[in-house]
Amino acid sequence: MKFPWNKYEELPLDRRNTLQIFITNECNLRCNGCFARDIIKNDSSYMSLEEYQKVISEFLKRDGKQINLLGGEPLLHPNIREIVNINKKENIKTTIYTNGYFLDRFKPEDLEGVKLRVSLYCKNGKVKSVDSLPLTNIPFDANYMVSKKTNLDNLLDSADYLEKNHKCKVFFISSIRELDNPNQEFFEDTEATMPVLEYKKLVHNFMREYQGKMNVHVSKRGVFESTKTIADNKCKFANYFIGGKIIQCPYDIVNLKFQKSYEFEDRFCQHNNTCLMSKIIFKRK
Ligand SMILES: C[S@@+](CC[C@H](N)C(=O)[O-])C[C@H]1O[C@@H](n2cnc3c(N)ncnc32)[C@H](O)[C@@H]1O
Ligand code: SF4
Repeated sequence: MKFPWNKYEELPLDRRNTLQIFITNECNLRCNGCFARDIIKNDSSYMSLEEYQKVISEFLKRDGKQINLLGGEPLLHPNIREIVNINKKENIKTTIYTNGYFLDRFKPEDLEGVKLRVSLYCKNGKVKSVDSLPLTNIPFDANYMVSKKTNLDNLLDSADYLEKNHKCKVFFISSIRELDNPNQEFFEDTEATMPVLEYKKLVHNFMREYQGKMNVHVSKRGVFESTKTIADNKCKFANYFIGGKIIQCPYDIVNLKFQKSYEFEDRFCQHNNTCLMSKIIFKRK
């Protein structure tokens, strides 16, 4: 399984202090593997702007640089435009993780300067399929979450479609995670998860066959080694939920392991290169 280095070069990661804020528990979907499902269950609340502003003040005191907005579905938040503007005013980079269903409710200028990451499960299917996304002129990065059902043709067709129809510049290959398994073991697969070695093979084959121009980001899942050295593995992530609940490590979200506070660059990463957030960025040569 040789990696096609003739086609790609690895770019260094820009790791910055990042707070993931779950701004709403409202969602139009109930995806099977959703790691936030216990939080969004039977609850349709939205974070108030007052609470949001308070979170941002604390974040800036901790040398925060980037906010990821999640939920539930963040584009359902009635004040999403104001939230984006607060971040802009404070010079904070913003990424919105979204299922993309409501992109056609926005004008490009509403989300200017924001990175959108649209999560997808399949080329055509009932939930989060590439084909059923509304066609808009709002640019986004695609996050294709591989499952046991994914095959190489799905992945290649999806990438071509997204590049042609949505002008995506980034195709992020990640995976439905085995966070759900009874032992909470990273390498223990669930019904939905593609085993790691198959995942590695699929990604290699994709990288070899893919003819388009998008940069490809790949979730490491413990089977992809970076060629770039990271000097330390102190955690730069934390998660904040409505009402002041904090969970530092994304792995703890399914167990609802709340804590009082968070600090960046303080604790060592317990999952190192299997961290949910760890990825490799490949640029097309
Ligand atoms: C909880 S969702 C909230 C944002 C939005 N509703 C969405 O689906 O993109 C945040 C991100 O987690 C991803 N996600 C949800 N469940 C997952 C799982 N079991 N494994 C890996 N990623 C997951 C989603 O696809 C999305 O990219
Ligand atoms: S759309 Fe997002 S938040 Fe909603 S259920 Fe699916 S993964 Fe969870």
